[in-house]
Amino acid sequence: RVAIIMSDPIKVLVTGAAGQIAYSLLFSVAKGDVFGTKQPLILVLLDIEPMMGVLEGVVMELADCALPLVKEIIPTSDVGVAFKDIDVAMLVGAMPRREGMERKDLLAANVKIFQAQGKALNEFAKKTVKVVVVGNPANTNALICMKYAPNIPPENFSALTRLDQNRAQHQIAARCGVGSQDVKNVIIWGNHSSTQFPDVAHATVNLPTGPKPVREAIDNDVYLKEDFLKTVQQRGAAVIKARKMSSAMSAAKAICDHVRDWWNGVPDGTFVSMAVCSDGSYGVEKGLIYSFPVATKPDHSYQIVQGLSIDDFARSKMDATMAELIEERDTALSVCA
Ligand code: NAD
Ligand code: LMR
Repeated sequence: RVAIIMSDPIKVLVTGAAGQIAYSLLFSVAKGDVFGTKQPLILVLLDIEPMMGVLEGVVMELADCALPLVKEIIPTSDVGVAFKDIDVAMLVGAMPRREGMERKDLLAANVKIFQAQGKALNEFAKKTVKVVVVGNPANTNALICMKYAPNIPPENFSALTRLDQNRAQHQIAARCGVGSQDVKNVIIWGNHSSTQFPDVAHATVNLPTGPKPVREAIDNDVYLKEDFLKTVQQRGAAVIKARKMSSAMSAAKAICDHVRDWWNGVPDGTFVSMAVCSDGSYGVEKGLIYSFPVATKPDHSYQIVQGLSIDDFARSKMDATMAELIEERDTALSVCA
């Protein structure tokens, strides 16, 4: 018989744990979709005090899933307990937008949550903690979180644009009549907002006849520069209009994809989009949390992919979304002052 040696549990925090995204997310994390089916977990669930009753129900359900990887569940409304010695933080807890709002309209309501949680990360978390901010406006909340956690390396902070990447992949795949997994290296540049730039200039699609650049497989500039862009940029709003609530199942799946690829790495030659701290690559102002193509490695590190050609159309879109992020950053800093 072969003995399977389980490693020590890792401690994973999910905030907003009584909310709708967490309801899908917790199950996927707990069954091994992110860290693998051999990695035991301690799940820490943070929500606000009035939600503790609901959270108790979520804990009961998680327990009743009878999953082998979950060694302990810690529900709490105390940030000191929640952030203690964590390896990974999935910061979901924040107010969602309603129909007619832009995500940045949530800034005043949500940014202080991330100021407080940045301080808590700084004080209580492991210095190696990997952070993904999901609560909107995600990029700017991540920037504030990073600013208030100076003891943690800036490269450990990210915001979620994987949902936008998945949306873009699906649009291209559907147009070409193939599966989403057949579309590679679509890039989301910039902000998780309606100014984001979904870019297919470096993407390929695996057709029944073999792989092709997306721009050759879809030889329609008007579609790629207008309809495709608008559909991806406005997809969150379209879901809210239809569901009367913001996306949750697809958001949870995207969080799993983001953290799994960060934790485990992606194959050489492929990349994924993550909003991370800019080092000045591609002319993006240093210190902004901007979505870039990144190549991740199995040691949980990543590098912004360098040397991709940027034409005038792409440059103007990348600059427009950067301008919005600068404006959001300045507003957020004044809210937190
Ligand atoms: P929800 O209202 O269903 O749940 C949010 C939960 O967060 C609630 O249980 C609430 O009590 C909790 N919460 C509020 N303040 C908190 C705090 N200080 N600490 C801990 N928990 C707190 O909302 P949802 O649908 O789960 O969405 C959560 C956030 O994610 C929203 O801001 C939404 O806009 C955002 N979102 C982002 C993406 C993305 O791709 N980046 C996708 C979908 C949703
Ligand atoms: C999304 O992209 O679906 C989320 O950010 C929710 C929203 O407000 O659009």
